[in-house]
Amino acid sequence: MSKPHNSLHLTLLHILLLLAAAMTTSAPSPWPVDETAPLITFLELLQDAALATFGSKDFDPKFYIDLSLRFSLPVVEKAFNSLPKSRNGTVPPADLEGFIAKYFRSPGEDLVVVHPPDYVPEPEGFLPKVKHPGVRAWALEIHALWKNLSRGVSSSVRDQPELHTLLPLPEQFVIPGSRFREVYYWDSYWVIRGLLASKMYETAKGIVTNLIYLLDTYGHVLNGARVYYTNRSEPPLLSAMVRAIYSRTHDINLVKKAIPVLLKEHGFWTSGVHQIVVRDAHAESHCLSRYYAMWDKPRPESSTIDKESASNISNGAEKRQFYREVASTAESGWDFSTRWMSGNKIHLRTFLEKKKGIPLRKEQKRNPKDITTLKTTSILPVDLNAYILGMELDISFLAKVAGNHSVTKHFLEVSKAREKAIRAIFWNETKGQWFDYWINDHSSCKEGRLYEDGKQNQAVFASNFIPLWIKPFNSDEKLMDKVLRSLKSSGLLCHAGIATSLTNSGQQWDFPNGWAPIQHMIVEGLALSGSSDAKLLAEEIATRWIRTNFATYKKMGVMHEKYNVEKCGDYGGGGEYVPQTGFGWSNGVVLAFLEEFGWPQDQEIGC
Ligand SMILES: *[C@@H]1O[C@H](CO)[C@@H](O)[C@H](O)[C@H]1NC(C)=O
Ligand SMILES: *[C@@H]1O[C@H](CO)[C@@H](O)[C@H](O)[C@H]1NC(C)=O
Ligand SMILES: *[C@@H]1O[C@H](CO)[C@@H](O)[C@H](O)[C@H]1NC(C)=O
Ligand SMILES: *[C@@H]1O[C@H](CO)[C@@H](O)[C@H](O)[C@H]1NC(C)=O
Ligand SMILES: *[C@@H]1O[C@H](CO)[C@@H](O)[C@H](O)[C@H]1NC(C)=O
Ligand SMILES: *[C@@H]1O[C@H](CO)[C@@H](O)[C@H](O)[C@H]1NC(C)=O
Repeated sequence: MSKPHNSLHLTLLHILLLLAAAMTTSAPSPWPVDETAPLITFLELLQDAALATFGSKDFDPKFYIDLSLRFSLPVVEKAFNSLPKSRNGTVPPADLEGFIAKYFRSPGEDLVVVHPPDYVPEPEGFLPKVKHPGVRAWALEIHALWKNLSRGVSSSVRDQPELHTLLPLPEQFVIPGSRFREVYYWDSYWVIRGLLASKMYETAKGIVTNLIYLLDTYGHVLNGARVYYTNRSEPPLLSAMVRAIYSRTHDINLVKKAIPVLLKEHGFWTSGVHQIVVRDAHAESHCLSRYYAMWDKPRPESSTIDKESASNISNGAEKRQFYREVASTAESGWDFSTRWMSGNKIHLRTFLEKKKGIPLRKEQKRNPKDITTLKTTSILPVDLNAYILGMELDISFLAKVAGNHSVTKHFLEVSKAREKAIRAIFWNETKGQWFDYWINDHSSCKEGRLYEDGKQNQAVFASNFIPLWIKPFNSDEKLMDKVLRSLKSSGLLCHAGIATSLTNSGQQWDFPNGWAPIQHMIVEGLALSGSSDAKLLAEEIATRWIRTNFATYKKMGVMHEKYNVEKCGDYGGGGEYVPQTGFGWSNGVVLAFLEEFGWPQDQEIGC
């Protein structure tokens, strides 16, 4: 075939693909979305006015949605409406500042700093394998940070919930820190792992009690304890939290309380829009899950950012689909990353109209920086399905402990089916990794379930190795050998930890950032395997991670949310907000690593 002919052929094919995709994206959304609460709608208006008035420097939209009202909403709205406003939406800065001071309490004022009742400066039997005095002193400082990060909900939230976006919770909790002022879902798993190393069992149980309360109230565990997080979840690790606490405390009452709600959570992730049926190469069908937020508007806590990102999308249905992709990406915990981005823009129709006559092929290339190409709801994620497999095994284990044989047996069977699905759809024998599976846009609905074809995304992400964390995989010796070789040659293992991806996009879940939870799951998976080679690598990665956390802390006096894996002693950046400190899961992982691997007296700690 001659070259020009070939490219014409490709162009026509692409037009057809784009048209097909455009038709799907403008179809009515398959999941209803509720009206935004009046308080949220109003605080978004205030957010807009603040951005227009104060400018984008140091602007954090979440600050405004976290304000609580001093007076009823109608009173505050009336005062807001009578502020002098220019046609461009700005208010004289002094007027807006005065209005905020008079009518609102600062973010965080509806939380109270509490002393964790089970905190002691040096718990008995704390990190027995840490012999190096400098490392031990530092570990005690990290342990002491649980005091800085412990909070409860103030009585004003319980008395007048309509004045707050904060949700009331029955127990006190540990927050990640900085702008993350409330309790978060998947963060709590690593907070709890750290609390267990700190022997703070009551605080750990309190966090689980709160998450159980949210699950009971809303039908899923919320992303975080705010009204504006009610329509999405986060990576589901509640069962792992309960199991981790049980393994230390043997608290059977906690297990009994958790089982019925865990069954509810399992149902949430394995039904409706979250479940997809895919056929493998042998025409066998498998059920797998995806992230799918019940929301198709700007995320209230980042409303100004999302509206700006969507500003070039003119079609209403495409705009809503974009917002749904953004919220679903937040649900994945990986917000944001090239992992969820494709070359295909969501606003295909607009795009086709605008670019008529311009070669489409160029536009089809992946553009990792263009957030409007998010396709999260069309992706079956490796890690989510590994977590759900873990949940099924945990439920089976916990039900056995509680003496419920029917649940034990049922969840063992369910877990076998998911293990098989993960091996059939995600596993790539040639590459020795599990790849995300991108489903096609042309979906057909049969018997209320979606049947999908698609393909593996062969890009390298740390999530491709998360199944290592789950027992059926880390106990499979032959498979481990293959994965170990693949991990070592992946390019992800860096001087100061495991990189999130190989692409430097400026997004925070990409290169060169390393995140504590990712280090922990991969290290723990390697350490649990029977291979001595894998155990050595686990210790090596943990050691590098401890070094960079230590060096950064010594330099700056704080623990960070993420680190730069290329440079020992440097924190990570990128994304839509400034780097945060505190920090719940980083502290938890350092303590868990030091508990597992220790630090010999004579081992250097410097970078
Ligand atoms: C969104 O969250 C609100 C508040 O919890 C809830 O009432 C509503 O049912 C949720 N919407 C959907 C579509 O699930
Ligand atoms: C908005 O209008 C005000 C008052 O007319 C003016 O002082 C200000 O410079 C304008 N700001 C922008 C960004 O145009
Ligand atoms: C919108 O389109 C214009 C013109 O192509 C471009 O300069 C701008 O960066 C786009 N905005 C966003 C948020 O993508
Ligand atoms: C096992 O748990 C299920 C679900 O909570 C419950 O319906 C059933 O009664 C329990 N069976 C026993 C023997 O406790
Ligand atoms: C696994 O990877 C190889 C090499 O990249 C590729 O050719 C093959 O199609 C992949 N297998 C599946 C099942 O996608
Ligand atoms: C933790 O709290 C103590 C006591 O309030 C304070 O001195 C210290 O600076 C805090 N540490 C961090 C890292 O915020």
